[in-house]
Amino acid sequence: AADLGALIAARVRDVPDYPQPGVVFKDITPLLADAGAFGQVVGAVVAQYGAGAVDKVAGIEARGFILGAPVADRAGAGFVPVRKAGKLPSQVIAASYDLEYGSATIEVHADAFTPGERVLIVDDVLATGGTARAAVELVRRAGATVVGVSVLLELAFLHGRERLDALGGVETRALLTVG
Ligand code: PRP
Ligand code: MG
Repeated sequence: AADLGALIAARVRDVPDYPQPGVVFKDITPLLADAGAFGQVVGAVVAQYGAGAVDKVAGIEARGFILGAPVADRAGAGFVPVRKAGKLPSQVIAASYDLEYGSATIEVHADAFTPGERVLIVDDVLATGGTARAAVELVRRAGATVVGVSVLLELAFLHGRERLDALGGVETRALLTVG
């Protein structure tokens, strides 16, 4: 809804030149600290999919954990952590990508999904789309089906949505799109 977008805009803080000069960091901590706003955001993501439409929510470390875990709980789905390299204890599959600043590798447990499971990927921000794209690749390589990528905030000027669209079959949803 338009008012949820306005609420998100009011609760996400722009921090200039973090973590490096020229980058405006989108700080979601004021939103998380507001019980009503946090609950509305979680509810809005759950409402994007019908009841019983998601088997697992894959949350991307770190801020995708914060949003993804309550979404999974409220959607009646399990939660799977997609982690930065070296953090998961068992056998993993890995994908590397370029970030708005630097590069990174994310991993998921090789047995995190059963074949055909319907997986919703959740993160806080869609910027260049490198992170979400790598997460889609991981879930697919693990044998599951990506039903969508849901983010709190999409930075349209960085064209992440186009990078996800190029993969085919990915529904990208943002509660607020800026730029
Ligand atoms: C930020 C953000 C997204 C990603 C978006 O995470 O939380 O995960 O960047 O950027 P992209 O679309 O250009 O890939 P970051 O890597 O800073 O790590 P964090 O969530 O652990 O803070
Ligand atoms: Mg992140």
